[in-house]
Amino acid sequence: MYHLKIDGKEIDVPEGTTVLKAAKMAGIEIPTLCDHPALEPYGGCRLCLVEIEGARTLQPACTLPAGNNMVIQTQTEKVKSARTFVLSMLFSERNHFCPYCQVSGGDCELQNAAYDEEMTHWPLQPNWQVFEVDASHPYFVLDHNRCILCRRCVRACGELVGNFTLGMEERGSKTILVADLGVPLGSSSCVSCGTCVQICPTGALIDRWSAYRGHETDITSTETICVGCSIGCGINVLTRNNSLVRIEGNWDAEINGGVICEVGRFHPMAEKRNRIVTPLIRRNGVLKAATWDEALSVVSTKLQEVNTLKTGGVAAIATTRLPVEGLNLFSQIFTGQSGNNVVTSTEEGFYTSFTKDIEFSVRKEAGLEEINKADLLLTIGVNLVKDHQVAGFFVKRAIGKETNVITVTNESTGMESFTPYGKIINKGSELSFVSALNSAYHNQLHGEIMEKVGISSQEVVKLATLFKNAKNPMIIFGVEFEAKNKSDVIRALLQFASETNSKFASLKGNANSLFASQLNLDSSFTLNGSQVVFLALGDEDPSQTLTQRVENAPFIIVQASYQSALSAKADVVLPVTNWLEQNGHYVTSDGKTQEAKRALVPASDIKSNEEVFLALGSKLGLVLDENWMDAIKI
Ligand code: SF4
Ligand code: SF4
Ligand code: SF4
Ligand code: FES
Repeated sequence: MYHLKIDGKEIDVPEGTTVLKAAKMAGIEIPTLCDHPALEPYGGCRLCLVEIEGARTLQPACTLPAGNNMVIQTQTEKVKSARTFVLSMLFSERNHFCPYCQVSGGDCELQNAAYDEEMTHWPLQPNWQVFEVDASHPYFVLDHNRCILCRRCVRACGELVGNFTLGMEERGSKTILVADLGVPLGSSSCVSCGTCVQICPTGALIDRWSAYRGHETDITSTETICVGCSIGCGINVLTRNNSLVRIEGNWDAEINGGVICEVGRFHPMAEKRNRIVTPLIRRNGVLKAATWDEALSVVSTKLQEVNTLKTGGVAAIATTRLPVEGLNLFSQIFTGQSGNNVVTSTEEGFYTSFTKDIEFSVRKEAGLEEINKADLLLTIGVNLVKDHQVAGFFVKRAIGKETNVITVTNESTGMESFTPYGKIINKGSELSFVSALNSAYHNQLHGEIMEKVGISSQEVVKLATLFKNAKNPMIIFGVEFEAKNKSDVIRALLQFASETNSKFASLKGNANSLFASQLNLDSSFTLNGSQVVFLALGDEDPSQTLTQRVENAPFIIVQASYQSALSAKADVVLPVTNWLEQNGHYVTSDGKTQEAKRALVPASDIKSNEEVFLALGSKLGLVLDENWMDAIKI
């Protein structure tokens, strides 16, 4: 431990702590601009200059490691005048006419810093040079005139997202933020995660939806989780007057550490579907508004009627986006009742049924945090650019930290451009690839296997050598294999993981894919004479295939948040909350149970999925067990 004195306060800090962090630990705030807790220290803006006893010049606190017995002053006249000078330079460099800026009045770190220093003006002529505004991106706008060149966005895109889209071009007053080699952001390699927008300290990067919709002080922030996929990123949902303003990554979230993807940040903002706001019953061929009691009575009568039939019962299908509480009740209502019921999920176990029967208990799946510790990663059966993007960010940034990354896909996904070990193999040859890799690992590779795979045996030997030399290898797999028998591929992968002592993680589908599987909601679905179809769609948009498969059923009940082709064909429609309007739990793909909190209040006639299931259960005379914790098998 090092002993320091900061503004007269004595403190002991671990070796390697920066002066900025040490000051924070002592309860002393030093102003910063280019620094951000999620990024590596950079030392670009010089706003954090402090006086160190014995040092010839002022030093940047964000990059300076604390030394033993260091004496630091953060509030001397010299320090304050340096801060004002730095701020004056920043203000005069570009257009900072605050009244016209969306972040002015509380959300701009530059303006806030100036107020903190009690600045009323800056004594330098502004540089009147006009810079472009890049409005080519569908989700955000880049106004170079407000940019202070702090490079937080550049570093976030590289260090946190691993995408390296942003960079700087030119020098001095002409320095400018660029995407790729100077293309508009909208046609760049940007994957629209929005991390740069969230981390920008000024009004240079602004989000199209939330701009001018209120400052942070007018907004309620709800700490919750994203239900866009089975990773379960921590997010903050920003709302104002019960309307969604913005979604931000939670920097403190254990799973994602602040980064989120396009699906989590921007898709909910672009929601265009129409809500269902009251129960509906089809009368004389037309859907008409009804009370909850009327609608649930029609549903329960129909279900009871069908339960007495010898053939053709109920096909009950739930979305894997429902919280644990809802899925648990859904399963109790439809499983084990009399009648000939088909009970499954909208995923029909696509992501889980192949892994379900494989013995996972021997070694548990690893969490995504293990990616940071791995020195070799193999990803297969998953397109990490399109799906589970945050896992993709973890993998891409591992490449930057000199982890060897092998990506195996059937077609180009863009991942190959990040790693020298991006392999595109023949469609349907995954099993042969894994066998070849295993053989090469044991120095027994035969050339004939390679013809099927479509890459050379030398390449496979090279990959196997990486496994031989790795101390902490990890395999991340999905089930998007072209191979006919996906279970065999997964078995072979797990066998290989076991022989190479690799950790493994399987990526699944929607937010509660794993829990749905634990409830056995993963059988494939056929209408097969079902007289009634009950679709608990929640806020999922039914696929065209699902719609076509059920639209001719004699009686359709749709429990959903949004209007769809299926709700239009339903006989009864039950309006329910969307993910932002309900509390509930979700089990991540690696088995962590997390809580989602309600951020918006639903319209008065909309019920939560649990409320509907409980009311329906009571109409059916069922005793439902609300204790969901015992249903989670982890
Ligand atoms: S970025 Fe900040 S300082 Fe610049 S104009 Fe906007 S509010 Fe003012
Ligand atoms: S949105 Fe994400 S990928 Fe695109 S430039 Fe910003 S940080 Fe990079
Ligand atoms: S756009 Fe924002 S984060 Fe990026 S360099 Fe400019 S001010 Fe900094
Ligand atoms: S915050 Fe230290 S140099 Fe910018």
